[in-house]
Order: sequence, then C-alpha cells, then structure tokens
Amino acid sequence: MYIHQKQLLFPVQVRNQNPSYAAAVLEQFGGANGELKACLQYFVQSFATPDPAIKDLLLDISTEEISHLEMVGECITQFMGPPDPDPSLMGGQDVEMASEAMTLSQAENSINQMINSNSTLQKSVILGGHGPLLTDSSGSPFSGNFINSVGDLLSNLQSNLAAELRARKVYEELHRHIADPGAREMFDFLIQREEAHASLFEEAIERVQDMQPEASFGDKEYSKMYPDLSKGGPGADQFKLSPDARVISGPFSGDPDSDTFGGPNPPMPQ
Ligand SMILES: [Fe+2]
Repeated sequence: MYIHQKQLLFPVQVRNQNPSYAAAVLEQFGGANGELKACLQYFVQSFATPDPAIKDLLLDISTEEISHLEMVGECITQFMGPPDPDPSLMGGQDVEMASEAMTLSQAENSINQMINSNSTLQKSVILGGHGPLLTDSSGSPFSGNFINSVGDLLSNLQSNLAAELRARKVYEELHRHIADPGAREMFDFLIQREEAHASLFEEAIERVQDMQPEASFGDKEYSKMYPDLSKGGPGADQFKLSPDARVISGPFSGDPDSDTFGGPNPPMPQ
C-alpha cells in the first residue's frame, strides 16, 4: 500500500522560468538513468528477493525514488512556467492568437524558437499540454527496457549500484549546465541521495557475498584463465585473476589441461 504525502521530500524552487532547462531535466524524469527507472527497477526486483532485509531495502529505496521523481517533475513544471494566460484578458490586435503565447508576434517567435532549438521542448509545450511528458531529454518515451531485473540477487544489486552511479553522473552534468541556483540545490541534494543509495547497495552486495561463501564462482579451470587477446601496448599485464591464473592466447580445445595457456598463438586462418 502506498500513501501520498502532500509535501516534497526536499523543497524545489527554481529561480527563473526556462523551458530549455525543463527539456534537459526530462532526462531524469523519463530517461534511461532517471528516477522512474530506478523506482520501478527496485520495486520489480523486490518481489522475488528472498532476503527480507534486502527486500525491505529495495522497497525503501524504490519509494524514495518516486519521491525524487516527484521533485524532478516539480522542477520541470516550474521551469516551464505557468500555462498561457486567458486570451480574453489580453488587449491589442493580436488578442485572437493568444493560445500558445501572449500575442501573435510573440507566438510566432516562441514556436519558431522551439522548433529550431529543441524538439522535446516543442512536444512538452505544445503537444504535452504544458505538463512534463514521460520522455527523456530527446523526446524518446520511457521504456520498460530500462529496467534490469533477473533472478540473481547479486546481479540485481550490482546493477542497482551501477544505476545509482549513472544517475549521479547525469545529475552532475545537469548541475554543470543549468545555471539556476534553485535547480542546482535540488541536483546537489539528489546527487547526495544517489550516493547514499550506492553505499547501501554496496553493503547489500557484501551481505550477499558473506552469506553465500559456498557459492561456486571463479573456482573452476576455465574461470581462472586470463584472455590475453589484446596484445602489446602500455596496458599489458595489469590484471590478474589469482596467483594461479593462467593466460590463454588461443581458442579453447575443450580440455582445460591441454588448452593453450600462454602457449603459441593459434595458426591464423588462410
Ligand atoms: Fe533518485
């Protein structure tokens, strides 16, 4: 059961209207690394999560993410500004063309600017009826394909950790490019919250690894082989699987004991 409180998680108060900024912030509304993606990903994963503590963590963070989505939607709405004024209140010869802007001449300028500068902006202002669309900043619609969930808890948690880091990166870019102090305060808050979630997912990953020490991972012959297939250059010999890891430079024969562990390169096809 979900209950909505009529209060934002953190106050959002942009200083000046700016539809271009609104279009940019859409990236975190309906984009691949946005708040709805995070919310739904953790929510979906929670159903089949066997560990009650991790299931609770997923639902806690999922619920916070929809609060982030609410903040982002509020930010976009403030950047968009209020709907067009009532045409009947306008005076002058342009009064009849007041549906998308105050006057005919202003409307032409405004719409041409939108079309020339940003198609998402055009959609949001005109087709979206002045409300934020569930798209990314390029106007591509939100997709369930953004959601990563599989029946492996460790995989899910690591995907969630990566999702938090990606969300943080997008907020850092928005912070860098949007010169509105109010929006920047929100981005700064959300960056810190994504970092908090990342830390929690890291802890959950350690918990799963500690609880499943017997799980078979990386302890069989083929899982201890290093593929030295990108030859030469300054990056050689940087990574080692384990002290007894062996290097493989050719195709597998199917027999771990006779494979080309550091042996000669395989003959090249003629
Ligand atoms: Fe978030």
